[in-house]
Amino acid sequence: MAYVVTENCIRCKYTDCVEVCPVDCFYVGETMLVIKPDECIDCGVCEPECPADAIKADTEPGLEGWLAFNAKYAELWPNISEKLDPAPDAAAWDGKDGKLQAVFGTENPASA
Ligand code: SF4
Ligand code: F3S
Repeated sequence: MAYVVTENCIRCKYTDCVEVCPVDCFYVGETMLVIKPDECIDCGVCEPECPADAIKADTEPGLEGWLAFNAKYAELWPNISEKLDPAPDAAAWDGKDGKLQAVFGTENPASA
């Protein structure tokens, strides 16, 4: 198993998560982060650190698409190991519906 970053990271990108990861397995895109599943050691320490509650264990039901999304973009985006400023308007975007559709043009993370 692994932990995965899900939709509510988009346009929030608080990056508190990267500071606690013992194996630096976060990767950074323009609007969000992902976790590389085969580097994640399932320690779980990042999950409670995310102010947007965007990090989930992939054992939760319905997260198969997000696991594929994290695996795909972790190969395309650069590694990140230090906290950045949050995205502009992070508080306004936190909890909004439809962020995946708005940014990636699909409601299905597996096809993003
Ligand atoms: Fe890193 Fe642990 Fe979070 Fe996996 S669960 S991304 S190893 S902090
Ligand atoms: Fe995203 Fe939460 Fe990390 S918003 S950047 S998963 S702290």
